[in-house]
This record gives sequence, C-alpha cells and structure tokens, in this order.
Amino acid sequence: MYSSLKEKIAAREARVTTVGLGYVGLPLALTISECGFPVTGFDLNAARVAQINAGERVISYFAEDRIARAVKGGRFSACSDPAILAAADIILICVPTPLSETREPDMSYVVRAAETVSAQLRPGQLVVLESTVWPGATATVVKPILERSGFKAGQDFFLGFSPEREDPGNAKFDTKSIPKIVGADDQQSRDLLDRFYASVVTRTVPVSSLATAEAVKLAENSFRTVNIALVNEMKVAMEAMGVDVWEVVQAAATKPFGYMPFYPGPGIGGDCIPVSPVYLSWRARDVGSATPIIDLARRNNDEAPDLIAGRVAVELGKRGRPVSGARVLILGVAYKKNVEDTRESPALAILGRLEAMGASCDYHDPYFPVMPVTRDHPGLAGRRSVELSEAALKAYDAVVVTTDHSAVDYALVARAARLLLDTRNVFSAADAPAISGALVKI
Ligand SMILES: NC(=O)c1ccc[n+]([C@@H]2O[C@H](COP(=O)([O-])OP(=O)(O)OC[C@H]3O[C@@H](n4cnc5c(N)ncnc54)[C@H](O)[C@@H]3O)[C@@H](O)[C@H]2O)c1
Repeated sequence: MYSSLKEKIAAREARVTTVGLGYVGLPLALTISECGFPVTGFDLNAARVAQINAGERVISYFAEDRIARAVKGGRFSACSDPAILAAADIILICVPTPLSETREPDMSYVVRAAETVSAQLRPGQLVVLESTVWPGATATVVKPILERSGFKAGQDFFLGFSPEREDPGNAKFDTKSIPKIVGADDQQSRDLLDRFYASVVTRTVPVSSLATAEAVKLAENSFRTVNIALVNEMKVAMEAMGVDVWEVVQAAATKPFGYMPFYPGPGIGGDCIPVSPVYLSWRARDVGSATPIIDLARRNNDEAPDLIAGRVAVELGKRGRPVSGARVLILGVAYKKNVEDTRESPALAILGRLEAMGASCDYHDPYFPVMPVTRDHPGLAGRRSVELSEAALKAYDAVVVTTDHSAVDYALVARAARLLLDTRNVFSAADAPAISGALVKI
C-alpha cells in the first residue's frame, strides 16, 4: 500500500480530494491540480460547487480565469457527492474550525467531515487534516472516527496533519511558495505526506508528530496575537507621549535582527488570529497548564474595537458633536485589506458599538455592495455600501478608516471628509496639505 501510493505520488497520478472549497481548500486544490495531480474538490455547499464548475472567480484575489482554466484543463472539478471520497488516494480536510457560542473550540465541522470520510474510507488512502485544531485533536478526535471504518491508522490507511498557512490576498506569498509543515505519528504516513507536498510546494518541513504540527500553527498565530496586542498598547502609551507609533515601528523595522514589525489597528479579525489562541489556551487548561500572556493579549484585542468606538465619540465630542445623533461613515467592513471576508471583523464591532451609542452609521466597502449575514452582527445584513462622492462624504460628521482596501479613492476622502479618523495609517503627515478637514490617527 505504502509503495503503491509512493509511486502514484511520484508519477503525479495520485487522485486528490479536498474536503471543503473555502479560502483554504480551493487555493490548495487549484495549486495541486496545477502541479499535475487530478483533483476533485468536495463541498457540501452545492451553490459554491456549481459556481466553481462554471469557472466563476469565487475568490476575488484570484486571477480572473484561474478556476475556469483549471476546470477546462480537465484536472480539476468540484462536487458535493461524498462518494467521490472513495475514489481518492489522498484526502485533505479543509473545513472551518470556528469558536462556539461560548467562545470555545468548535470541532463540529471537523467531526462531520471525518465521519463523511470514514464512511468512504478504503485501505491505502492518505487522510490529512489541514484545519487549525488544538494539539492532540487529530489523534484523539479524527483518528477514532476514521477507525470506526474498521481500518487502523498507520497500518491500513495513512494519517497526517499539515496546517494551512494561507494568507488571503497576500501578493508576495501563495500556497506554493509558503513552506508546508508536515506531521504524522508514524514514519510511513509522514514520508508519504512529505513526498506529496514536496511535489506541490517549494519546501516542506517534516515534524515528529501530529501534535507538533498542530502546535506549530497555534504558536504562529498566538505570536501574532500577542504582538498585535503589544503594538496597540504601545500606540496608546506613545500617543500620550506625543510620539507617532507608526513612525516608531517603521524605524524599528530597519533593525536587521531581533525585531519584527507589527502595526496598530482597530482590532483583529479573520478566522485565524482571533481563533487559534483560544484553541491553544483551551487545550493548555485541559492539560492542567495555563497561557496568561496569550489570554491577556486576547482580552486586549477583543477590547480594541470598543476603545476605537470610544475614541470616535471623544473626537466628535471635542468638536462639539455628541456621538448620539452623529452621522458616521465606516470605511471598510472586511477584516483586512483587499479581501471579501468579514469574519470576526473589528469594523463591524465598531459600527455596532457606535450605533449602540446613538450614532447613525453607514459603510462603504468595494468588496461588499451588500452587507452579508454574520454570526455576531446579524442585524447589519442587507445594508448597502454607500457610493463615495464629495457630497456624500461631506454629509458625515466623521469618516472612520477601518480597512485600508487599495480600491478606495483616498484622495477624494481626504478632500471631502470633515473629520477623518484613521485606524490604519492610510493618511500620513505628508498628506496633510490634501486633507481639508481634521485628521486624527486613532
Ligand atoms: N482563511 C484563512 O486565511 C485560513 C488560513 C490558515 C488556516 N485556516 C484554517 O483553515 C480551515 C478552513 O478555513 P477556510 O477559511 O477555508 O474556511 P471557509 O469557511 O472559507 O471554507 C470552508 C468550506 O468547507 C465547506 N464545508 C464545511 N463542512 C464541510 C463538510 N463536512 N464537508 C464538505 N465541505 C464542508 C464549507 O461549505 C466551506 O465552503 C480552518 O480551520 C481555518 O482556521 C484558514
């Protein structure tokens, strides 16, 4: 079985199925098919499957015809019939791992996907979990479900974990050029996983166990969580000292060792940075340990949107305009620039908070002509992005830059906004002559 799959991988004949065609599964499936493997993407969302098979660009930062080319090339298709899993040699599970209502790890998607795979499992397959999970989850949650098939991991089928490090919208690094961590609890699974990814990505990094590979991902994201909290704390302290934290970070970043720049912002978003540390601290508690530094950073990051909303109120108040009754434009609702993703977006929290204080808010976001349904802010769904014009901008008491999308006419915003509150350093001192109203970095 091992030799047969090894040969199929070497010949690029191993049939690959990704479970989940989202921000992670779809780029991964396309990259693997572009490397010559036959790939089928399996997703429960039939509408998305139909769009993909029709060649539609369902992820905005993809090249216009990337999906259409892959589908036409005949090596890639999507489907929502789980029977396809039985035909695969390699199965990559890329389903969501969000937080539950009580803000604990929600493994329900992973459990369901593992059950679906288990029902179709056959000897000789390599099953790989790519979703972010706590250390120990693949061995204690996924493996027992797969073994309900009657087959044993490491003997009848191979099992690995390889965390996804996708950075949506990053023009510098893509699925292929980001080194891939590969971990397994037995030598053959690790070797097959390593060989497979070595033929897809530029570099693989084998680690000794499933739990180590799971922990790598959480370490990376917890590092970011802590550093974002740190730089936001410095922002407040340095502002009180009359120092521009942005200038400090940019200058500090010239140090060729021992420093890595993190930039202040309105809080953290996406389904990775706010979520991974929760998985890590939950598991730490589970094994009788603790993560107080990560927990404090999480709390600070969670509070960041409230602090920004409070700051908007203060800046309005300084200009004789109470926040209650003020008209505020939120510029950008995506959680970061140039992506069509509002998951855990701090902009939505800021908007909600300002409205709770009595402000009347609109938003503009070129990626969201209509506000989507979100779990934490369902009441905002269906609102429409306002068109940016000089007259429209002038009607607002404040414009808050929450996301620094490239496709926004910032020169127009600078010309027309009466009070510009910038959380992303879109406007610098050099722009001052072009700014007609007041600019405050918050
Ligand atoms: N988005 C990112 O930037 C990013 C980066 C690194 C890691 N991750 C991790 O990757 C994983 C996937 O995230 P994503 O952003 O791709 O999620 P996503 O929500 O964009 O996509 C998940 C897809 O899986 C499908 N799905 C859910 N359950 C399924 C099932 N049982 N069978 C088949 N399809 C199913 C959904 O319909 C959806 O299309 C998560 O664990 C996430 O934390 C995400």
